[in-house]
Amino acid sequence: MAFNLLKGKKGIIFGALNDMSIAWKVAEKAHEEGAEFTLSNTPVALRLGNLDELSEKTGSMIIPADATSVEDLEEVFEKSMEKLGGKIDFLLHSIGMSPNVRKGLTYDALDYKNFHKTLDISSLSFHKILQVARKLDAINEWGSVVALSYVAAQRTLYGYNDMADAKALLESIARSFGYIYGRDKKIRVNTISQSPTRTTAGSGVKGIDTLIDFTERMSPLCNADAEDCANYCVTLFSDLTRKVTMQNLFHDGGFSSMGMSMRAIKQYNKSFEECP
Ligand SMILES: NC(=O)c1ccc[n+]([C@@H]2O[C@H](COP(=O)([O-])OP(=O)(O)OC[C@H]3O[C@@H](n4cnc5c(N)ncnc54)[C@H](O)[C@@H]3O)[C@@H](O)[C@H]2O)c1
Repeated sequence: MAFNLLKGKKGIIFGALNDMSIAWKVAEKAHEEGAEFTLSNTPVALRLGNLDELSEKTGSMIIPADATSVEDLEEVFEKSMEKLGGKIDFLLHSIGMSPNVRKGLTYDALDYKNFHKTLDISSLSFHKILQVARKLDAINEWGSVVALSYVAAQRTLYGYNDMADAKALLESIARSFGYIYGRDKKIRVNTISQSPTRTTAGSGVKGIDTLIDFTERMSPLCNADAEDCANYCVTLFSDLTRKVTMQNLFHDGGFSSMGMSMRAIKQYNKSFEECP
């Protein structure tokens, strides 16, 4: 059911690769809610994914960009404002990648070039997007910027590797830039800490199926899926959340507040092993 929550609003959505992507679902929901936006992803992702389909469905222009390149990002904002006929009101950063995770290197045997890349792609890109937007004065007053994070920023989860550090930095950037952008332009900046979700990036995490089962059993409301996440993003882009800023907002069915649940105990009881 649509509520016209984003009627008249313009935005940029980074990171839709295929129909499993969280950003894809956000684009679909934002379209349903009346928004106009542009889509951006890397040239490689445009070849590997099927963004054309989403572009057609939502009437959105695709602007290729590597989010680690300031020049590319400047082009995204300039072309978006040209296409949409003015400044934007909302932006989604749905970008993450770790070459260390991809190559199966463990946290105590990281390759540092890869580590730099992880941070550049998954965290610094967020700062670059915000800095370029501010320099070009590309976001309207009371605009809303959202990036996607994960609870591994606060808690250690086996297999999440250097992406945990990347998410901690991402959340910190949201607070630091959120202060400046809020103070000067009344623009809000938040991160959503999403449940583990079966997507292309999600599938790269070691033991993702076990993790999804574990968080499902631990969370009173069960895991939030990509569509739930898209609904939450829409509320944050809307005028109903104008005073929410500099927050990391857990969207995880309650997982982050749990210690142990009845459903998890039942499963755990099935195999007692001695703790080393
Ligand atoms: N899937 C999960 O379990 C989960 C949970 C919490 C948070 N997140 C976060 O959600 C976001 C979206 O991931 P997803 O799960 O939808 O997977 P996804 O693979 O669909 O999206 C990741 C996107 O990042 C893009 N990307 C990679 N390098 C880039 C670069 N240099 N420039 C621009 N874009 C680049 C990819 O092309 C892809 O579209 C990520 O930040 C991810 O860490 C995912």
